[in-house]
Amino acid sequence: MSSATLKIDDKEFTLPVMVGTEGERAIDTRKLRADTGVVAYDQGYGNTASCESSITYLDGEVGVLRHRGYPIEQLAAYSDFVETAYLIIYGELPNATQRKDFGLLIRINAGIETQMQKIFEGFPKDAPPMALLSSIVGSLAAHYPQLATNNFETDLKNFDLAAAIAISKIRTIGAMIYRYQRGLPYVGPRQELSFCDNFLHMMFSEPGSDYTVAPEVAKALNLLLLLHADHEQNCSTSTVRMVGSSAANMFTSISAGISALSGPLHGGANTAVMGMLQAIHDEGDDGTRFIAAAKSGSKSNRLMGFGHAVYKNFDPRAKIIGKACDEVLKKLGIDDPLLAIAKNLEQAALKDDYFLARKLYPNVDFYSGIIMRAIGIPMNMFTVIFAIGRAPGQIANWREVAANPKGRIYRPRQIYVGPTKRDYVPIKDR
Ligand code: SDX
Repeated sequence: MSSATLKIDDKEFTLPVMVGTEGERAIDTRKLRADTGVVAYDQGYGNTASCESSITYLDGEVGVLRHRGYPIEQLAAYSDFVETAYLIIYGELPNATQRKDFGLLIRINAGIETQMQKIFEGFPKDAPPMALLSSIVGSLAAHYPQLATNNFETDLKNFDLAAAIAISKIRTIGAMIYRYQRGLPYVGPRQELSFCDNFLHMMFSEPGSDYTVAPEVAKALNLLLLLHADHEQNCSTSTVRMVGSSAANMFTSISAGISALSGPLHGGANTAVMGMLQAIHDEGDDGTRFIAAAKSGSKSNRLMGFGHAVYKNFDPRAKIIGKACDEVLKKLGIDDPLLAIAKNLEQAALKDDYFLARKLYPNVDFYSGIIMRAIGIPMNMFTVIFAIGRAPGQIANWREVAANPKGRIYRPRQIYVGPTKRDYVPIKDR
């Protein structure tokens, strides 16, 4: 193993250098404070590896994304969401029996018990759907206490069932939130339907009607969920690992991850992109004026769906979704003016030094909202779709933490910059 030398004042320290299977190198600072008395400072952890993981590899410089070694382009072309979920969680593509058993476990655990349905009634109908999703997913720990013991050994023994319940019920809860907020009766899952068909059935069927899912709609949703299935140590998945590191159960940890995902800089960006495109359209702008404003650098004027904490090149998912956009809208016979504006923005930004100098390229959220709108998903449900897709990655990362015999609770340090020691002053003297 190679090493790094650190010189502090007049002393030199040698730190081991770790190397990953893709050649990534990290200075192992686990003993830094004990050996040197200092800590490393990395606001936002942008240069810090919090863990060793075997699930997803991405190279932000060249735009590579692989799940358990399989390129996202191949999974998008040949796999489907449930199969990719199995790969991400269990580490290998399933054989026919494993795929059948995994799919069946998901199908038989799709329902939400009557007692659990009562939770929805406690929420205002106009509440943000992600606030309902994180709360109701967290309640799975209450409804399945035998799967949520906060005891790694027991929780891991029940892992397969808990994982199937999480994937299946996060999807069902998402559909029920949609129905509840529109005052529509719940539509229960049908065990014979595939994952996406069942979701669309629970979202859009009317009791007594013979709603049939259009294959191109189900295919588009399948692709979107697959492309969102995992993405290394992003803000929300790292949150799942952080919470799981305290031996909190999977459902509770995923609920925290869903909360982190709701932010507009993260999973909420798909909604923010559509709001941005709609505002540009309503102002009669083709995107030219907006691009100029987006270069102001203020967080409130950003070109949403552009830029990424890791990708300094095209997000490979954006390329796949951008291509699928044209295909899906053509098949559905939809001419969405927002797509033309999005393309104008992309072409303008990719020629503009402001964006090029900062390596700002389209990310997964730039085009995903256009497809979701085309298949009938309302804008306030876009991030819920993201959360449904991200469940396998969060489950797999929780399991890596829970199953790590040498794992430690996540407890970062800080650099204190507050007031130094001072004595209490009675209120009469203040
Ligand atoms: C996701 O991490 C993941 O993997 C996340 C994700 C996943 O699958 O889990 O990929 C999903 O969250 C995708 C990102 C979705 N968010 C957005 O599209 C929101 C818009 N993008 C930005 O807010 C921003 O690019 C971030 C939050 C994504 C990344 O922020 P960074 O890496 O902290 O970048 P930064 O804020 O330090 O910006 C660097 C520079 C700044 O300019 P200067 O101060 O150097 O002059 O780039 C500018 C920023 O002002 N900048 C933008 C911009 N993004 C960054 N300027 C205009 N428009 C933008 N979108």
